[in-house]
Amino acid sequence: MTENNVLRVENLTKIYKTGGLILGKKFKAVDAVTFGLEGDSANIFTIVGESGCGKTTLARMILSLIEPTHGRIEVLGKDILKLSSKDRGKWLPRAIQPVFQNPFEAFNPLRKVYPYLIHTATKVAGIEDRGEAVERVHQALEAVRLSPDIAERSPYELSGGQVQRLSIARAIIPRPKIIVADEPVSMIDASLRMGILNIFKQLKEELGINFIYITHDLSTAYYISDQIAVMYKGSFAEMGSADAIFGEPLHPYTQLLMDSIPRVDRKWSGKIKVAVTEVEEYLLPGCKFADRCPYVMDICKKKAPPLFRMGSGVEVACWLYSDSKEA
Ligand SMILES: Nc1ncnc2c1ncn2[C@@H]1O[C@H](COP(=O)(O)OP(=O)(O)O)[C@@H](O)[C@H]1O
Ligand code: SF4
Ligand SMILES: [Mg+2]
Repeated sequence: MTENNVLRVENLTKIYKTGGLILGKKFKAVDAVTFGLEGDSANIFTIVGESGCGKTTLARMILSLIEPTHGRIEVLGKDILKLSSKDRGKWLPRAIQPVFQNPFEAFNPLRKVYPYLIHTATKVAGIEDRGEAVERVHQALEAVRLSPDIAERSPYELSGGQVQRLSIARAIIPRPKIIVADEPVSMIDASLRMGILNIFKQLKEELGINFIYITHDLSTAYYISDQIAVMYKGSFAEMGSADAIFGEPLHPYTQLLMDSIPRVDRKWSGKIKVAVTEVEEYLLPGCKFADRCPYVMDICKKKAPPLFRMGSGVEVACWLYSDSKEA
């Protein structure tokens, strides 16, 4: 792994135990996920999948909010599971920042936002000069297209869209290289969603911030992604450039997702149907999609497919592509 890597996730796994100590069960909410963000220009890497497939668990591990069971996470070349407590407190928040689903959770509802943003500039971003801290906060508000007087109010006086913009402003004050945004528009009024996603695009282009955008909604994924990973029961089924995946989905699960939503002018709209994953299903050998797959073969039920790398660079976990090299 090189210093050029913005983010490298290897074999990341989270096993949860459910039920009691004796009769309890274990299951892999995130199962050996590997991917990276690298290169000279910033990217929006989208992780799309049904509710319960493990997206939030993956996001929280990358944000260092929960510990992985196995695996490795490198942010800007540093193994974040081995950081000193000083780096964890100071360096990490300047490298990677979250944006959550419920923007109101980012702020105390009764307190004005502005002093909190100044606190972020001085304590998290480490700007000692008061004038510079104020300047940094104003730049962040401008980047999310809010006037400073909005930040002078309390969150309960504002709309969800405004508060989500404030939480994005808060996240960019430390000038992070990566923002992990977990369903950032799913609680926002539909008419305001594109405005927020456009801010992500603009922050990527103007400030070079990389985004891990997590969503269950293919239409927004289509709109903003450079790369896409389709997640199914804790694993990536298919991963590659958004153009390749939306142009020609390879994995039968990706095909099913794309077919299940209306298609207008090559834009996807609507939502993925939610299927609740049974805990036991995580324990079966073979391909996790075998019970729903129209192309299922004998090998699929016996052995889990590895990721095969296609000529387009797309990686797909499916035995239909076993003529290609393993990734
Ligand atoms: N703390 C936990 N303990 C046990 N199971 C959990 C815990 N958090 C999430 N899960 C389970 O892990 C699976 C993945 O959850 P999650 O990561 O929230 O998925 P998503 O964000 O894709 O909806 C779900 O089956 C969920 O019920
Ligand atoms: S590995 Fe087999 S069961 Fe799984 S998606 Fe591919 S064809 Fe279907
Ligand atoms: Mg989630």
